[in-house]
Amino acid sequence: MRSLIDILDLSLEEIDSLIATASDIKKNPAKYADKCRGKKLATLFFEPSTRTRLSFEAAMYELGGNVLGFSEANSSSAAKGESMADTAKVVSGYADIMAIRHPKEGAPLVAAKNAYVPIINAGDGGHNHPTQTLADLCTIKNEKGRLTDLTVGFCGDLKFGRTVHSLLAALSRYTGIKVVLISPKELRIPSYVKHETIGRSGMDYIETESLEEALPQLDVLYMTRIQKERFSYVEDYERLKDSYILSVDKLAGAKDDLCIMHPLPRVNEISVAVDKDHRARYFEQTLYGKYMRMALILFLLDEKQKNAEERPEKYRLVHDKVCVNPNCITSTEQELPQIFRCVNEEESVYRCIWCESRAK
Ligand code: NCD
Repeated sequence: MRSLIDILDLSLEEIDSLIATASDIKKNPAKYADKCRGKKLATLFFEPSTRTRLSFEAAMYELGGNVLGFSEANSSSAAKGESMADTAKVVSGYADIMAIRHPKEGAPLVAAKNAYVPIINAGDGGHNHPTQTLADLCTIKNEKGRLTDLTVGFCGDLKFGRTVHSLLAALSRYTGIKVVLISPKELRIPSYVKHETIGRSGMDYIETESLEEALPQLDVLYMTRIQKERFSYVEDYERLKDSYILSVDKLAGAKDDLCIMHPLPRVNEISVAVDKDHRARYFEQTLYGKYMRMALILFLLDEKQKNAEERPEKYRLVHDKVCVNPNCITSTEQELPQIFRCVNEEESVYRCIWCESRAK
């Protein structure tokens, strides 16, 4: 059964076809109004959300389907200690497809390995957020006309920002992409993103702390919120929270056809005055997200009917290590098997299959 857990679960051709379907839906909504008649989407949100959950729900309604689910962990049996695996099995009997957001990294993958219906990762901890990436790719394609030969700046919380990790993985497969990673030292991208995602692809990148210096060369600027909820110490958040604020003045040095994006919600990192700038695209981005989620639901339900197989595991798996990431789903669900993939045989690099943390 095909699910979407990581953006790399989709081939470039599949992503192109999702973008094409999204454009067609936008132009001819009536053609799609009955495509999911009689189908149900379950939204299992164990963490707060506005855009992602509501755009999934709007997407399913606009396809003629129905939606059930919950929007906080406390109103589900997780509060009583039910495991992700059991929840996934149970909800498989109630819905045709599920979108899951969870604070623990790897939770949607656990669901995918246990459910009988396709699972969509709607954000797992500070790890991945592949449907935001679909929205982002659709925005870039429509606003810049291409997904190749672009200089893309990522600014803010690159450590905990899951939308950044997924978009970097997606961009690493296109040619001519250069990324400029703008963050305070403490919030640089995690090592697995730097070494496996960027390193392996050979994508051109630089790291800097200065937004002003980076701005003039950028075709796309992806601003992000400092992820307060992922910090262990509130003092660290307080110190770093206003590291970057994009203002009208700062934009003076930027290209005239810059595309300014943000997965939202914004806190302080883009001044409201920037909304009127012709380069601001973050509200359009939210709408592209709904069309891409519609295209994704259609795609996964179609694959389910075809009984499509999961992609085979590329790496050697080992079972003699223990994940020490406190945000990994294995930290709360102790009966989950500890499984590591050997991503680099020569240097003996092993990563947890659930959260991708490196084995110590
Ligand atoms: C993002 C998320 O949840 O990771 N929001 C979203 O889904 N659009 C970004 C964020 O919360 O900062």
